[in-house]
Amino acid sequence: MSDFRLPPELIPTDGRFGCGPSKVRSEQIDHLIAHAHLLGTSHRQPPIRALVGQIREGLADLYRLPSGYEVVLGNGGSTAFWDAAAFSLIDSRSAHLAFGEFGQKFVTAASAPWLSAPIVNTGAAGEVSQFTGDEDADVFAYPHNETSTGAMSSVRRHGASGALTVVDATSAAGGIDIDVRETDVYYFAPQKNFASDGGLWIALMSPAALERIERIASSGRYIPEFLSLGVAVENSRLDQTLNTPAIATLLLMDAQLQWIRDSGGLSWADMRTRDSSRRIYDWAERRSDASAFVAVPEHRSQVVATIDFDETVDAAKVSALLRANGIVDIDPYRKLGRNQLRIATFTAIEPDDVTRLLGAIELAIAAL
Ligand SMILES: Cc1ncc(COP(=O)(O)O)c(C=O)c1O
Repeated sequence: MSDFRLPPELIPTDGRFGCGPSKVRSEQIDHLIAHAHLLGTSHRQPPIRALVGQIREGLADLYRLPSGYEVVLGNGGSTAFWDAAAFSLIDSRSAHLAFGEFGQKFVTAASAPWLSAPIVNTGAAGEVSQFTGDEDADVFAYPHNETSTGAMSSVRRHGASGALTVVDATSAAGGIDIDVRETDVYYFAPQKNFASDGGLWIALMSPAALERIERIASSGRYIPEFLSLGVAVENSRLDQTLNTPAIATLLLMDAQLQWIRDSGGLSWADMRTRDSSRRIYDWAERRSDASAFVAVPEHRSQVVATIDFDETVDAAKVSALLRANGIVDIDPYRKLGRNQLRIATFTAIEPDDVTRLLGAIELAIAAL
């Protein structure tokens, strides 16, 4: 097994295909080094606030934010955002689509004692569940891309007027084009398509969401400061976070955001991730021992491709052979327990590296 060596033409220029943390481009590291003098400086002073401001403006431009929408950010990643939403965004009851680990985690956070029990439309792993249309809820929440399974939903509004559509875009943002007017809150963390490090959450918020946050903040509900979206909005308007952010995370995010904008924006990123993922799905289609895990083609993620193998292929061994050759993190989501490879096709990943990876997988299968 340890003798397995890939020929140079099948070695991707970058072997990181993990779904988060994910590939960081070397140009982002150059950007970090060029701005090294900002590391270790106060986040309350102009240089770091200008950096936060640049990220907020860059995202507003990337997403063509309609007037009144704001970019809000805080610490703690998307996981902290779920708890913040339970305190600051859900009035009395939320409705959810839960078709994987991450959709389910928001349900858990929304099962808070001060709220009515959430309405949950569960879907099997690999599927995308749907709202029934008669949910009585003031927040409609679903993942845009379920990173644990590679199932992708379409971003659109749900619920009666006054209800908020809250979309987990953690692994979608920066890689899939959307019409942000179809959402009230489109939130994410930057360690996927934005190729940064973890620890931050960022949300694009509509005027209706901002009003809701303000109303709940002044309602007398107990809200811990760290999980107060009202406090996050106030700080964001000053280009700050409530508590100390990781400055390196901001710099890496800024570099990736600039690169995506300079390369053609969200539609460019969308085309690139479609191209990369299509290479994988087409490849699986051509093979008799592999198949896309997500059965419905339009639900197959363009940023996280999950490929099942039949009993003739041990996917874990394939992954181990490739890891020994510098290709890392293509194992399935740890709790899914399938004979599968999961490959990120985030914006940073070169489509031609995906082609090299597929050749490398073929060679590893042949060597088993
Ligand atoms: C869809 C989705 N939501 C939420 C999270 C949690 O993000 P974080 O680790 O920043 O809390 C992840 C992490 O992989 C994710 O993929």
